[in-house]
Amino acid sequence: MLTGNEVRSKFIKFFESKNHKHFESASLIPDDPTLLLTVAGMVPFKPFFLGQKPAPTPRVTTFQKCIRTNDLENVGRTARHHTFFEMLGNFSFGDYFKKEAISWSYEFITEVLGIEEEKLWVSVFDTDDEAEELWISECNFPKEKIVRLGEDDNWWAAGPTGSCGPCSEIYVDLGVEFGGDENSRLGDQGTDDRFIEIWNLVFTEWNRMEDGSLEPLPKKNIDTGAGLERITAVLQNKANNFETDLLFPIVQAMEKIAGVKYGESGKIDFSLKVIADHARAVTFLVNDGVIPSNEGRGYVLRRILRRAIRHGRLLGVKELFLFEIIDVIVELMKGSYPELEKNIKHIKKVVKIEEEKFSNTLDQGIQHVMNAIEEAKKSKKDYLSGDITFKLYDTYGFPYELTEEICEENEIKIYKNEFDKKMEEQRNKARNSREVIMEKGQDSFIESFFDNYGKTEFTGYTSLSEIAKILHVSKIKDETYMIITDKTPFYAEAGGQQADNGIISGNGSTGNVIDVQKQKGIYIHTVKVLNGIYNFVEGIEVRMEVAINRREAMAKNHSATHLLQKALREILGDHVQQAGSLVTPERLRFDFNHYEPVTDEELEKVERLVNTQIAKGLSSTVEYMSMDEAKGTGAMALFGDKYEDVVRVVSFGEYSTELCGGIHVKNVSEIGMFKIVSETGIAAGVRRIEAQTGFKAYETVKSMEKLIDKVSKTLKTTSSKLEEKVEKTVEELKNSQKEIEELKSKLASYEANSLFTEVQEIKGIKVLVKRFENKDGGSLREIVDKAKEKLGSCVVVLGADNGKAIFAVGVTKDLISKIKAGDLVKQLAVIAGGNGGGRPDFAQAGGKDGAKVKEALNKAKDILVESL
Ligand code: SER
Repeated sequence: MLTGNEVRSKFIKFFESKNHKHFESASLIPDDPTLLLTVAGMVPFKPFFLGQKPAPTPRVTTFQKCIRTNDLENVGRTARHHTFFEMLGNFSFGDYFKKEAISWSYEFITEVLGIEEEKLWVSVFDTDDEAEELWISECNFPKEKIVRLGEDDNWWAAGPTGSCGPCSEIYVDLGVEFGGDENSRLGDQGTDDRFIEIWNLVFTEWNRMEDGSLEPLPKKNIDTGAGLERITAVLQNKANNFETDLLFPIVQAMEKIAGVKYGESGKIDFSLKVIADHARAVTFLVNDGVIPSNEGRGYVLRRILRRAIRHGRLLGVKELFLFEIIDVIVELMKGSYPELEKNIKHIKKVVKIEEEKFSNTLDQGIQHVMNAIEEAKKSKKDYLSGDITFKLYDTYGFPYELTEEICEENEIKIYKNEFDKKMEEQRNKARNSREVIMEKGQDSFIESFFDNYGKTEFTGYTSLSEIAKILHVSKIKDETYMIITDKTPFYAEAGGQQADNGIISGNGSTGNVIDVQKQKGIYIHTVKVLNGIYNFVEGIEVRMEVAINRREAMAKNHSATHLLQKALREILGDHVQQAGSLVTPERLRFDFNHYEPVTDEELEKVERLVNTQIAKGLSSTVEYMSMDEAKGTGAMALFGDKYEDVVRVVSFGEYSTELCGGIHVKNVSEIGMFKIVSETGIAAGVRRIEAQTGFKAYETVKSMEKLIDKVSKTLKTTSSKLEEKVEKTVEELKNSQKEIEELKSKLASYEANSLFTEVQEIKGIKVLVKRFENKDGGSLREIVDKAKEKLGSCVVVLGADNGKAIFAVGVTKDLISKIKAGDLVKQLAVIAGGNGGGRPDFAQAGGKDGAKVKEALNKAKDILVESL
């Protein structure tokens, strides 16, 4: 019997023998803005089908990792639904067509896999006579086992627009015990579990346009997809995919963790299957760089991960488990996906953090949902209102999909439209409560300004001064004005880089440009007028000069940020992605995804790497190109950012290439020096590095040197011997401290001894009441202990006046029925303006007023006389 891994490799070998080139499985994050995830084997090849790019080779074969979440709720309930699955495929880009696709698929199934011909059925598209004829002529396939199906079944498209075509699907008949009777045919009602589709051959020859019409593609293509899990299940005679060797080891690992047995009950199997499937999806998504979040792919990941965790709970597992299962998955899959092994630490960490976070929410959330269901049932309702489902989401952070699933299990209805309505109301509320009046005023001004004048011409990439015309002036407050000119050399704050400052002058006036913001391409300068002369009016020409030092310092920090990002990816791994950045003249700040503190060793490597690039003197190049071209250069860009049609690509030698509109040095040697000054965590999974460059970095290092010199002098040594000296000094200090402790203790016993002369007897009981000056609580306690030791049965009441009052009271166990240390000390503390208490045999307390200690101790005597 073939293993799943063998099926995968036999498929590839077979098509290699038919002159196909094997391509690696592409990332689950497609290079395609219209798709969230890689949903089929053909996704990486879309541009070749559409003729947008020439195919590198006409025949390709792959095993492709895929994710589909449209049927998420069904996963675990059925034998064959998955989020993560692998698709085996052969592709022809304008090369072979139906004849070869059909005959090779048949050859592979019957000859390589050895599935009996009698078990096979095929479907073809309603009008596709050609395909039917080819099945008969090429494969000798019995006509009566070819079924014609309509668009729902036999037309395939990756999305609403784009390449598509009719298809022919290959099915295996599992036998009458899975539905129907001896006369059942493929497509008959009630036979879905019996006829299992294992391979879809798509004859991709059409392009669906925006208006829904079909246009022929430049060439006819083939796209086939065979589900690895399904084929393996058929070959291994398993009733469902989860029992194959591709997935069962995961089920078994979970059985062990949860202490349950697969096959014991439908409910247990359901949860085990969900976990087996979802754990694979989670592993692969994180492996490809997805991080849990509240939108896009991050949300897909979060939903899957949370659903898996909930099913862990249903199995009774209270502790974290999912991150541990990842080991099993990596072991199973690393042969075909070696990068898993490299990333395993990162994957486990991401999953563990999310698991921890969600576990807390979950326990409370489930309780809330169950309470709500209980309530509903009590009042004989069969649904939960939108108010409740929204509250669960909004107040308790409980995902809607889980509420839905729990309700379904308890036969309670909920309505998505009600939930959506509440969500929308919430959004509107948030919008209204913002200060929109100001924003709106601004927006309409910008709109009409833009209509009149268009964008401001920015000349600051190449020049630092400009003669420009004022197009608009308005007063902000006092001496401060908003000025817009027809062109400007001033960089407006963007991409984390702060705005340029500088001078604007003309018509007898001079002003400081203190800020520049950009809206709709219009540069708005905030100008503080100097000398009180205000002659800036619309229409005049002004001279605009950028403050060069600030600008240059920022350029250094911005370029260094690019080098830093690249170095971090090299040292920590490709999961490092920018999460925020700030470039000021003083320093740079870079936030990025990484799930643990960067170690000192790693930081040093990063710092060295950046400085190495600086020393190489890489020169910068700036190019403008289309987004597609930019992607081709491998430029780093922020996913989710909006970019113009033409993007600006900044490179430093071969080392770093990024999409960026910022100001940069001409050659990285200008950065001079790069010094990391701190590394901290700012949120779960997000780290922040702050660094300095150029002269600032030098000054930081210099001040460290000065500090070392100062410390050396204080310690009467030289910097080269400082380390040794510090170690010695610390050692000496430790010894001295030990000595002091010993002496203190000796002193305490000496004092305690000398105190005996002051011991009185009250009703035959030994009582010591004594006041000290300048003793801390620890010393008082020690004296109490010593006194108790020496005196045997006794009461000890001590007070110290350190400005503030401190009391310590000890009562030997035999006397605590008469007087309790805690009660007594409390009364004393109150007298000194404090409070306190403690155990019956020993208690300590303090008060604000040290002068009251005497009075308090007198009172203590009175109390003792009364109580003993
Ligand atoms: N694209 C088709 C599918 O996903 C065949 O590969 O079914």
